[in-house]
Amino acid sequence: MRVAVLISGRGSNLRSLLEAAAEPAFPAEIVTVIANRPGAGGLDHAATFSVPHQTIDHKAYADRAAFEAALTAALEAAAVELICLAGFMRVLSAGFVRRWQGRIVNIHPSLLPLFPGLDTHARALAAGVKLHGCSVHFVSEGVDEGAIIGQAAVPVFADDDPDRLAARVLQAEHRLYPHCLRLLAESRVRLAGGRAVVEAGGADGPALFNPDPGA
Ligand code: GRF
Repeated sequence: MRVAVLISGRGSNLRSLLEAAAEPAFPAEIVTVIANRPGAGGLDHAATFSVPHQTIDHKAYADRAAFEAALTAALEAAAVELICLAGFMRVLSAGFVRRWQGRIVNIHPSLLPLFPGLDTHARALAAGVKLHGCSVHFVSEGVDEGAIIGQAAVPVFADDDPDRLAARVLQAEHRLYPHCLRLLAESRVRLAGGRAVVEAGGADGPALFNPDPGA
């Protein structure tokens, strides 16, 4: 499966996808990396892995439609089959999302549908949740609303601040996103009735508790 990764910043999730895809047996190939911000740190990761990369600066276009037309042209030129958003900070228009429906996914740093939008870690701390995490989901017209493909949970501790919690969630993101990309590339994810149905062995293991019942 030919994959594009779209980024705006440091690209640590991009790096985890590049590392996974570098394995010869991995079922997806990252064929292009596109940043909408010049100098996005993640472009260096693409260079390290010798993956074609470019900047399509949204500020260089008159409006969203012109920016998205340039994006579409680049994606088509690379014969992309799936788009992975990884810290891509532009909201995409309904028309763009419809065109790629079922073929565009995102990673979000919360257990959706809790905490869509920004500042998820501070909001999780303010809410006092004891479990937090990340979600990989299909992109739909509503922001952070599409069908959930996979989630990973981490505990929230009393002495956490947003940065500590973000770092713990990010570690989970770096495992979850490559795993979900593999499932997508192996055609083990399908959309049914607005939900993502995943054909994957779910081990019925112990629950993730916080507080730890053994402590
Ligand atoms: C991640 O927390 C991701 O969930 C969110 O933006 C952040 C991007 O981080 N969408 P990075 O650029 O992948 O390091």
